[in-house]
Amino acid sequence: LSVVVLISGSGSNLQALIDQSLEGKLDIKINAVISNNANAFGLERASKAGIPAISINHKDFASREEFDAQLQLEIDTHQADLVILAGFMRILTEGFTRHYDGKMLNIHPSLLPKYKGLNTHQRAIDAGDKEHGVSVHFVTAELDAGAIVLQAATEIEANDNAETLAKKVHALEHKIYPLAVKWFSEKRLAYKSGKVMLDSELL
Ligand code: GRF
Repeated sequence: LSVVVLISGSGSNLQALIDQSLEGKLDIKINAVISNNANAFGLERASKAGIPAISINHKDFASREEFDAQLQLEIDTHQADLVILAGFMRILTEGFTRHYDGKMLNIHPSLLPKYKGLNTHQRAIDAGDKEHGVSVHFVTAELDAGAIVLQAATEIEANDNAETLAKKVHALEHKIYPLAVKWFSEKRLAYKSGKVMLDSELL
């Protein structure tokens, strides 16, 4: 499976995908890593792994539409069967999401539909939640609202703060994101007419 990974920051989820594919656990070829932030550490991770590392600064474009058009061009040049958003901190236009309908995954650090958007760890603590976690979902035009593929949860303990909780959630992310990508690569996971389809053997 050919994939393109979009990032904005550290890229630890990207690293999990790189590592699992090097270990032969995941049959993907990462054709490119694209960041909207030229300083993203994830670009270094990509280069180190011999993957083309591309940055497209959203500030160079007059509108979201123009930025997304360039992003789309770059992704399609590298031929992606699946676009993987891994800490990509830009809101995408409807046209862009439609272009990759059923072919774009995102990971979001909350138990969706709770806490769409930012600061999810602090918001879960402030709400007095007993548990928190992470969701992998197909991307649709509405932010963090596409069909959920897989979730993992962890307990919120009395002494947790946003930082300790983020760390626990990250550990879960690095397990479930490669797993969802693996299912997709094996054609055991698909998205049809707004619904997640899972191979019956996974259930
Ligand atoms: C993760 O918490 C992910 O869920 C969110 O952005 C963060 C990216 O982390 N969408 P990293 O860049 O993969 O380390």
